[in-house]
Amino acid sequence: MNSPLTNLVRSVRKTVRRFWPGLQGPPDYSRIRSLAELGRLQPRVQFDFTRAPVPGWLTPAEQRALYSLARWAPGPFLEIGPWLGLSTVTLALGIADSGEKKDFVTREINPTSANFRPIDAEHIGLYSPPESTESMGVCSRESFERDIEPVVSDPGGVAGHLKENLARCGVAERVRVSLGDFRELEAQPYRFVFSDALHDELEIRRNSPHLRRFLSVGSILACHDTTDANVKLLNEYFRFGEYFRADSLFVAEIVKI
Ligand SMILES: C[S@@+](CC[C@H](N)C(=O)[O-])C[C@H]1O[C@@H](n2cnc3c(N)ncnc32)[C@H](O)[C@@H]1O
Repeated sequence: MNSPLTNLVRSVRKTVRRFWPGLQGPPDYSRIRSLAELGRLQPRVQFDFTRAPVPGWLTPAEQRALYSLARWAPGPFLEIGPWLGLSTVTLALGIADSGEKKDFVTREINPTSANFRPIDAEHIGLYSPPESTESMGVCSRESFERDIEPVVSDPGGVAGHLKENLARCGVAERVRVSLGDFRELEAQPYRFVFSDALHDELEIRRNSPHLRRFLSVGSILACHDTTDANVKLLNEYFRFGEYFRADSLFVAEIVKI
């Protein structure tokens, strides 16, 4: 029979594991044979966040999931929307730690101040080309002034900061930076695509038909800032099989194109 002390220790362990998965120790990585398995194990993957000291918009859970995907999912990899490179560095570190050679291209539209203008008193839109009347994305004036304006008005711009961050984090050789709208890239299937340009209905409807050109059956698509409503919309464009979610990161396998 278990003593009250043993029961207490068991219950404390169970609670700690539930709220602090890393304490369970590293998972058995050899078990990762499917996206579902990767989804189950990735919360326990140990990732040293100090290796990616780059400003950006990922939560620790999302960063850990991207790192795990880069480490265990097969390449080639395509990222759409690296901004200053938080997600890019994280993916590149996963590729580096995999010990395998995986091609990795990141595509950034590289906006300048000319690409932004107010939509209304509270919101700023991204327009490309600048004279376009169709906004490609929207942010609050506050976020624009705090996070975006200082970067896009800097002479180095987004691409300069991105390349500097990749070099500083020691991953410049792991990733090729490609500048321009991803919709202008030549069609080519990737095994893994991370898109940070599917935030709302506008972006999903505009970008999804183009995204299909970079996917094939078996590819993994990871989308950031995905709400339940976004998943519903994405289902209109893609047929998904196994999937998992880490905060707002939605990761799914394409089963039909
Ligand atoms: C939310 S930010 C990305 C944040 C970044 N992934 C991180 O980890 O912090 C979205 C990025 O997508 C870029 N972008 C938006 N539409 C694009 C397109 N059609 N082609 C290429 N880049 C695009 C924007 O310029 C911006 O840098």
